[in-house]
This record gives sequence, structure tokens and C-alpha cells, in this order.
Amino acid sequence: MTTLITGGAGLIGSKVAERLLGAGESVVLLDVAAAPERTDPLVERFGEQLTVERGDVLGVGNLGAAVRRHGVDSILHLAYLLGAESNANPGLATQVNAVGTANVLDVARLFEVRRVVLASSIAVYGRDAMYPRDALPLTEDAPPWVAPGVPIYGGGKVYMEQLGAHYRAQYGLEVVGLRPSIVYGPGRRTGATGWVVVLIEDPALGRSVSVGFGDAKMSLVYVEDVADQFTAMLQAPSEAFAQRRFFNTGGDTCTMRELADVVRGIIPDASIEVAASGETDLAGLAASVSGDALEQAVGHRRRSLEEGVREHMNAARTGVGLAPLGT
Ligand SMILES: NC(=O)c1ccc[n+]([C@@H]2O[C@H](COP(=O)([O-])OP(=O)(O)OC[C@H]3O[C@@H](n4cnc5c(N)ncnc54)[C@H](O)[C@@H]3O)[C@@H](O)[C@H]2O)c1
Repeated sequence: MTTLITGGAGLIGSKVAERLLGAGESVVLLDVAAAPERTDPLVERFGEQLTVERGDVLGVGNLGAAVRRHGVDSILHLAYLLGAESNANPGLATQVNAVGTANVLDVARLFEVRRVVLASSIAVYGRDAMYPRDALPLTEDAPPWVAPGVPIYGGGKVYMEQLGAHYRAQYGLEVVGLRPSIVYGPGRRTGATGWVVVLIEDPALGRSVSVGFGDAKMSLVYVEDVADQFTAMLQAPSEAFAQRRFFNTGGDTCTMRELADVVRGIIPDASIEVAASGETDLAGLAASVSGDALEQAVGHRRRSLEEGVREHMNAARTGVGLAPLGT
């Protein structure tokens, strides 16, 4: 089996690659940017099982050539401009997020790829307050009002899902996808959601930390769980998608202040300051999202918030040569 991962040098892609390679599969990582800190260790460990290619999802030619050359069976499409980048560059975001996705689906149908897994997002939903109370936690059937703080990003994800449905109806292409909550894990420290990572990593590295958005509620999912979930979506039998094709990853709901308490529970003397100025959420993202349907479909159970935060802290520590925290 060979899987092509677009945006594969990113946070999530490299983690999914590690799992597929570990299971003996071949992987092609196609990304417009290089991230040797993520890809070099994989190349070293898995050798010829892995190909890392510089390529743009806006180029149908290079996408098609990669699929044909490597005999790709399935595609995980992660390449996308994230929330703040999409707000700042709506034109480029429309290209990469919408046209890039259509290119991936076209190449998949032309080369008879078995399955395409798309990365949607909880940004397809509005903020919790836009839904009746009894609709929370949100299931996949909740209306996609789009997160008000990231309209280009979230609107693009709604369009992406519609593209997927169209290619399935029109061409019989198997297209499924995940709607991840806010993903935390070692590495990303920018954007509104970067605060989450800073709050977890800095105390783990012995630094004091000061964060805002204290009362903002959010739905958090650990990157290793998201990677397990995407891997399961690639490997599950088609029957797993008989009821629905797009699933929430689900996440733990907490405020920034509550997350600080989880960090203090692991490092009691952590120096943390949390400020608040009345934010109810991060970027208008939903904070209460159910992952039950996915758990039923593919059987993966997410780590608890405490377990994820501890693992994240230890990954940050071992990444700079520090010993992991005791239990
Ligand atoms: N991280 C989160 O909190 C989160 C939440 C929900 C959904 N998602 C989705 O998951 C996917 C992966 O996210 P991530 O956290 O790994 O992000 P990331 O930014 O780490 O990875 C995205 C990768 O896409 C690449 N890319 C951008 N434009 C490209 C192009 N034109 N051609 C090829 N590659 C291109 C980037 O270089 C980057 O390596 C994205 O689609 C994102 O929207 C992420």
C-alpha cells in the first residue's frame, strides 16, 4: 500500500506517516515547504519506504506525476492555509484551499485512487452560542454556520466537504474526512491556538509563561490521537463509512484557565499567569464537539486531556535533551 500525504511535512502529516511506515506501508510526503526537523528522522528510520517531495497542490502536473510514479493507492489531503494565514491572504487561501482540493480529487479519480481522506475542521461549525443548548456537544449533523473568526478557513472546509460529496456522486470516488478540534502537540506556537501550545510547553521546559484568553472555552485534541484517527480513516474497511463520511475527532472542552490547572497538576510549581478580557472562545470556534460517531466507526478512543498534556510536555522535554517528567 502506498499513501500520498499532501501537506505531509506539517504537524499532523508527519505523525500519520510515522504510523503508516511503521505498519510496513510506503508513503510519499508532498509539501510546498521543507521541514527537515520532521522529515529527516523519518527518512533515517524508514529509508526507501518514504519519499519526500517538494510539490504544490496547485500544480495538477506534479500531483499526477507523483501519484502515477509511486502507484499511489490512497491520498490524505492536508495541504491548506491555516486560519490566520487564510484571513490575511483570502486570494491565495481560495486557491490553495479550494482549487488545491479540486486538483487532488481530479488526480485521484483520473488515477483510480482507492480512497481520499480530507482534513476538514470544527471551523465548519459556528461558536457554541450559535446553537440551541440541547444541540451541544455538536454532532456531525449540526448546521455548518462557520466559525466567525476564521471565515475563509472554515468556509473553505465546508466547500471542501461539498467537493468531496460531488466527486463521490459524480465519479464514484470514495471521499471521507475528519473535522479535527484544536490540535495541540509539539511545534506550533503561532496564531490564537498557539497559546495552547505555549501554555503546555513553556512550563515543561522550566520557563514561566503568561497567556491571554483565560475564559475562552475550546475543544482540544492531542496530535497523536488525530494521527491515530487519520490512520484509522485510511485503513478502515469501506463499511465503516456506510452511515456518514465526515466525522468529528471530538475533543476535551476546557477554558485556558482550566488548561493551566491541568499543567499545574503535572508541574505544581509551574509559574503561569493567565489573563482574560472576556473572550468566550478562540476565533469563534465551537468548544463542545462530540467524537462519539468516530469512536463507534473506527474504534479509536482518545487520550484524556491530562494524558495528552503530559505526553506533549515530555515530547517537548526530550526534544531538547531533557529527561521526561516522572509520573
Ligand atoms: N492543527 C489544527 O489545529 C487543525 C485543526 C483542524 C483541522 N486541521 C487541518 O489539518 C490539516 C493539517 O494541519 P497541520 O496542523 O498539520 O498544519 P501544518 O501547517 O503543520 O501543515 C500543513 C502543511 O501544508 C503545506 N502546504 C501549504 N500550502 C501547500 C500547497 N499549496 N501545496 C502543498 N503543501 C502545502 C504546508 O507547507 C504545511 O506543511 C490542515 O488541512 C488543517 O486545516 C488542523
